Amino acid sequence: MDFSGRSIVSMRDFTREDIQHVVRRALEVKKGAYADCLRGKVLATLFFEPSTRTRLSFEAAMVRMGGQVFGFADPNVSSATKGETLSDTIRTVCGYCHVIAMRHRIEGAARLASEVSLVPVINAGDGANQHPTQTFLDLVTIQEEVGRLTNIRIGMLGDLKHGRTVHSLAMALSLFGAEFVFISPESLSMPEDLTAQLASAGLKFTEVRELSDIGKPLDVLYVTRIQKERFEDFQEYQKVAGSYRLTPAVLSQAGEKVRIMHPLPRVDEIAPEMDSLPNAVYFRQAHNGVPTRQALLGLVTGVIS
Ligand code: NCD
Repeated sequence: MDFSGRSIVSMRDFTREDIQHVVRRALEVKKGAYADCLRGKVLATLFFEPSTRTRLSFEAAMVRMGGQVFGFADPNVSSATKGETLSDTIRTVCGYCHVIAMRHRIEGAARLASEVSLVPVINAGDGANQHPTQTFLDLVTIQEEVGRLTNIRIGMLGDLKHGRTVHSLAMALSLFGAEFVFISPESLSMPEDLTAQLASAGLKFTEVRELSDIGKPLDVLYVTRIQKERFEDFQEYQKVAGSYRLTPAVLSQAGEKVRIMHPLPRVDEIAPEMDSLPNAVYFRQAHNGVPTRQALLGLVTGVIS
């Protein structure tokens, strides 16, 4: 399998075999493989939107493998404020590094960047569209915590309209025969193009408004925060703010064995008393960001095959 030179823009670009390959490599990294293999390589992190985990775990991944990192976390210090286009910025920065990780508020920004860049571009989130590296680390977590990727029953709860993590994850899991339960207020439902895609692939999904309606137990309950920054109308946000909050009582609805995942940051949708339950895997999930991004950086730079 050849990932060398390949950009990571959307889960749409990956086959089931591609995904299994990345997950396998990430698990090998966790066991200590490929140490120092990015020595001499440089990553540029261009974050036009806020981030904690994604940017810092990209940096940690690069540093742990012997590589180096430069970039910005605040676009106000870049020439974007002078009116430079994204494509000019990318055309310039790609001459300074071996790989670019970029987060941008505009959907499709990563695709555009990948088309003008001379080095691989890794999409670290483009607006409400896609967040493929989050999905890879989510899949590594599911593989570890559930023991398989195939035929899982997963509930996705929260802002399914604006949440790029659930868009990417649903797309990826659709290649593994998952059964989906989408739980959200009506105004935050999964976009129709995505549900139409699941339907045409013959996958089972249900859409419910309340956790009490999820039916059979779940393998995974994937919780997301309401993406306040993506609402055009603040009043619309206020109507749904605080409309769901997980407490340990959720286990009686989702099953005693359900694994609770969340891409983080959380606001108020998971009560802190959930954290000590064996079901709460979200911090282990966040930690998987490092080995997963180590594997991806190694693969696209061609030092891991
Ligand atoms: C997510 C994101 O940026 O889309 N965070 C992350 O990368 N772990 C989720 C979110 O912001 O709610």
